Amino acid sequence: MKEIKDSKIAVVGLGYVGLPLAVAFAEKFPVIGYDISQARIDELSQGYDRTREIQKSELEAVAQNLTFTTNEREMVNANIYILALPTPVNEFNVPDFDPLIAASETVGKYIAVGDVVIFESTVYPGATREICAPAIEKSSGLVFNKDFFLGYSPERVSPADHSNVAKIVKVTSGSTPEVGQYVDSLYKEIISAGTHLVSTMEVAEACKVIENAQRDVNIGFMNEVAILMNKLGINTAEVIGAMRTKWNSLPFVPGMVGGHCIGVDPYYLVHKAQSVGHNMGILKATRTINDSMGYYIAQQIITLASKKNVAAPGARALLMGATFKENCPDIRNSRPLDIKKALEEMNVVVDVYDPVVEPSEMKTHYGIEVVKELKKGYYDIIILAVMHDEIKAMEPDTIRALGKDPCVIYDVKSVLPPGMADGAL
Ligand SMILES: NC(=O)c1ccc[n+]([C@@H]2O[C@H](COP(=O)([O-])OP(=O)(O)OC[C@H]3O[C@@H](n4cnc5c(N)ncnc54)[C@H](O)[C@@H]3O)[C@@H](O)[C@H]2O)c1
Repeated sequence: MKEIKDSKIAVVGLGYVGLPLAVAFAEKFPVIGYDISQARIDELSQGYDRTREIQKSELEAVAQNLTFTTNEREMVNANIYILALPTPVNEFNVPDFDPLIAASETVGKYIAVGDVVIFESTVYPGATREICAPAIEKSSGLVFNKDFFLGYSPERVSPADHSNVAKIVKVTSGSTPEVGQYVDSLYKEIISAGTHLVSTMEVAEACKVIENAQRDVNIGFMNEVAILMNKLGINTAEVIGAMRTKWNSLPFVPGMVGGHCIGVDPYYLVHKAQSVGHNMGILKATRTINDSMGYYIAQQIITLASKKNVAAPGARALLMGATFKENCPDIRNSRPLDIKKALEEMNVVVDVYDPVVEPSEMKTHYGIEVVKELKKGYYDIIILAVMHDEIKAMEPDTIRALGKDPCVIYDVKSVLPPGMADGAL
């Protein structure tokens, strides 16, 4: 392995995780940023990051050290490869390792003896050793832990939270104790919050996937609580506010769990558990309830509508916010769009307003034209689903004025003043 100070780094996969990492490393080392998407590379080369994580000025500041390319051969001089590929699930919620395997095979074509390949993608414990190492061996002809080595360092950034990668403690690990030390030293160069070296890659893999699964379970419990409180006629937000006055209450609220982390990663753990004959019952129940919240909200809306004599067939609804999180343009696994789908099944016409999404992505992925101009007095139903800053900045009366009289207002996140919404989670 080369000395850390002589490192040349290739970052493979320049999405929400890979780009900030490439920028952070480029402050100290020469970095090749490689991605298969020509559109992504073109935009980054022009200083535009559609994920909103990195500003143009930040890209300009490291431009000397950071090259963006779709040409995999440009990675040949790197000695450290960091992979930040998507780890989705398929339509049966089974882990899909195709992107990770494809990128491992690509990297295998260019690594040399002594190189280190570090994985940042969220996987189940054992995946890096069992799935990625053989893929690299296959395309490189080199031997794992003799000719080349692996590291695993899970990413913990939270999109749209301005959670700078350098300011979050980084868990590090390697395929041998020496490589663990090496990987740890490398990340210490850029992580001002410090690192936490663990004994094996499996510990680091487990740490990340369990962090996310734990959040999922806690949100799932609050969703179940919200459903019960609604049945009992008790205001969930008020209950949570009261709970918060206890020093050790946990700050979880009900909500829709979309995106491609918390709503997906638990399936990796469920899958691995099954392979060793263990049934992750709590996680499976959590996934069921969290995945059903969009449909539950739609049912609630229809009930509220009938109470106000708003007939569902032919009603026009406005869905405000369609991404998985406030101020984040990521539209993967959008749960607000579950609300839309369920309402459409009841013949409600649903317009989507979202000032944060890339309209072209909504069109390509979902065939949806987002509404640009909001019309006054136009809607029978208004759903406040994702409170992007632009939506939060609207006065409650301005939102109300978009509706007809009568109009059902459903406030998923309980942000409107008391009494203004007809329903909330
Ligand atoms: N998004 C987050 O905030 C976050 C946080 C922590 C961990 N993670 C995990 O990090 C991993 C990456 O997530 P992400 O959000 O950055 O994904 P992403 O989809 O935003 O980015 C992945 C990038 O990889 C590229 N890519 C796909 N296949 C490739 C290949 N074969 N070769 C080169 N590039 C390829 C895509 O074009 C894309 O630009 C996932 O495992 C995710 O669960 C994500």
